[in-house]
Amino acid sequence: MPMTRNAAIRVISPEPTDQPIGTAHGDFATVAELTAGLLASRASVSPKYLYDSLGSKLFEAICELPEYYPTRTEAAIFARHGAEMAECVGRRGTLIDLGAGNCAKAASLFPLLEPKQYVPIDISRDFLNEAVSRLRQRFPQIQMEALALDLSGRFMLPTSVRSEARTFFYPGSSIGNFAPHQAIAFLRQVRENCPADGGLLIGVDLIKDSAVLDAAYDDAIGVTAAFNLNMLRHLNHLLGADFDVRLWQHVAFFNTDDSRIEMHLEARCAHAVRWQGGERHFARGERIHTEDSYKYTRDGFSELLREAGFETDAVWTDDAGWFAVFHARACNA
Ligand code: AVI
Repeated sequence: MPMTRNAAIRVISPEPTDQPIGTAHGDFATVAELTAGLLASRASVSPKYLYDSLGSKLFEAICELPEYYPTRTEAAIFARHGAEMAECVGRRGTLIDLGAGNCAKAASLFPLLEPKQYVPIDISRDFLNEAVSRLRQRFPQIQMEALALDLSGRFMLPTSVRSEARTFFYPGSSIGNFAPHQAIAFLRQVRENCPADGGLLIGVDLIKDSAVLDAAYDDAIGVTAAFNLNMLRHLNHLLGADFDVRLWQHVAFFNTDDSRIEMHLEARCAHAVRWQGGERHFARGERIHTEDSYKYTRDGFSELLREAGFETDAVWTDDAGWFAVFHARACNA
């Protein structure tokens, strides 16, 4: 049952304080999920654990980096084609921001889309809370309904979200952090929450030269490395683990066969890590897989949309063809 945690943010998904507390750190489900990943023969941790409050700030810093082209390229596409997008999307509708972060991207579209209601959704409640209170002051005419929701599970929007003219906004190529079959499942979930007059405005990173991709995920001053390594601090907090960040290094590369950037944390030397209820010995060079970021062709992504129940209506790209924004309408899969 949805519950209101404070006046500003509605919490829809289970969160640690709503669960039986399993440890002094994280709830049972989180500890079990993380333990299973860390003990797997190829250790992995879901990329959602990159985003504690420092991780969210480091991701903001990544978006400022010269090597990390997606943010500025997408922003340039919105700046150049925003009016056409508004024609496709329609004005005075309900704008639902999936993974809103600091809400800046959606806010830049408010003058064009003039939404009646804005529904920012993010897993990081505190981060969202700060962003929405600033936004309410700037745009008092827009009704805002912020939701702290983990989109990696099943979700159903509450009735407080207007059902008319819903546009789901998913910028920043976050869809790339799902494997293609998960992306289809996620977009089908979106489709289930999308009435027949609704649609999707989504940013997608396109396949390009590997050198450009490698640099974007392994920048010269090490911000992406810090973002990846910070996950270990987060795990120490959630699991009561004793990861020593200095014994790990960031590894990122484009896997051309699978069309994805892979991010890993690699042990610099052999050592053991302990946490409440678990322990693992890592050999030198052994890795924890922390993130994938899939890249698409235009046709490939249109096909993925179709499988999820959306029909591509328009696609805008930059001149180099590095990034694309798709508008798609709800249809029957
Ligand atoms: C959030 N997401 C779209 C980013 C990406 O490009 O996959 C996360 C990221 N990881 C490293 N740099 C940025």
